[in-house]
Amino acid sequence: MTYHANKKGYYGEFGGAYIPEMLYPNCEELRQNYIRIMEEPSFKEEFDQLLKDYVGRPTPLYFAKRLSEKYGTKIYLKREDLCHTGAHKVNNTIGQILMAQRLGKNRIIAETGAGQHGVATATVCALMGIECIVYMGEIDIARQAPNVARMKMLGAEVRPALSGSRTLKDATNEAIRDWINNPVDTHYIIGSVVGPHPYPDMVARFQSVISKEIKWQLQEREGRENPDYVVACVGGGSNAAGAYYHYLDNPNVGIIAVEAAGKGVNSGESAATSALGKVGIIHGSKTLLMQTTDGQITEPYSISAGLDYPGVGPMHAHLFKSGRGEFISITDDEAMIAGLEMAQLEGIIPAIETSHAFAIFNHRKFKADDVVVVNLSGRGDKDLDTYIDYFKL
Ligand SMILES: Cc1ncc(COP(=O)(O)O)c(C=O)c1O
Repeated sequence: MTYHANKKGYYGEFGGAYIPEMLYPNCEELRQNYIRIMEEPSFKEEFDQLLKDYVGRPTPLYFAKRLSEKYGTKIYLKREDLCHTGAHKVNNTIGQILMAQRLGKNRIIAETGAGQHGVATATVCALMGIECIVYMGEIDIARQAPNVARMKMLGAEVRPALSGSRTLKDATNEAIRDWINNPVDTHYIIGSVVGPHPYPDMVARFQSVISKEIKWQLQEREGRENPDYVVACVGGGSNAAGAYYHYLDNPNVGIIAVEAAGKGVNSGESAATSALGKVGIIHGSKTLLMQTTDGQITEPYSISAGLDYPGVGPMHAHLFKSGRGEFISITDDEAMIAGLEMAQLEGIIPAIETSHAFAIFNHRKFKADDVVVVNLSGRGDKDLDTYIDYFKL
């Protein structure tokens, strides 16, 4: 039994590539080449070098003493917020830009919700001197303004998505439309473990550096590679996939996924896909997604732009359905309070996405000698206005 993708990109019943005819050549080109390219020594060398010298890896595994004392368990934070550009997203964009170059592509498109993936994409495009267009929902452009400014400064064009809830789902639709219209020269850098095969597997492999490092870092600190639990927030699921990756098939390591319940799972304003989702197809992948009885996608809602998505990657749908992962939904209010607590207990202001993961300590008890690793997926600078408005600071 494995929780990794099979050759056709399925995790159990989820995954695959459900794509329009026009995208078939692009996806097929990527599918046929991605593993071969990733395994080339020159690719590995360039990827590892950039992760080290440009991104600043390895990121620290930090023992959060005051947080641990408060919740009576041993809590370590994997500091992806310290990556260049402020979140885990750059691990994937570095990998994909190197992939795009080897596939001979000279134009990059991306979608973004919180803007972290957009910034990480604009950054690697600047680094390589490649044209970059980022699609972003109009609502997200307003609530993540600092990241929009960063993308522009980096030379990217930010195109607003004006349909639907004007958030991540709609930006992804626009990016797919662009790709269909520009199939030859363009590579689509998807920002999470979503989309048609091979994206979920490819992005998970690029992000797997997170759990690769956790293993040796925990060995140094605790004398064992395996924590009792790995916790991560899940939007599409890429930071979570990276944090779980090397533990997926190890039943001794508990996997905890935290989703956004928005104003409450049953409030009608939520993004809690595991609780509310049914099997369906979104953005080229068979997965769990929030939908009406006649199969129309339900508009999601979360205070955090990066979790405001009606689906979840196929790996996570499978982790949920199989019972391998424990899924917890956290409301806006619980996340905001956990973010403030993090700031004041540990001196770290997390992204609101990440704050959802910290809120689990008020939901679930851990034993005193449990080792719990929380993936601190990003820093909260982009969210300061939202925190300040919320707490009237
Ligand atoms: C800091 C941070 N964490 C988490 C996410 C959610 O994405 P994923 O589930 O792919 O990690 C985002 C998305 O933008 C983000 O910016």
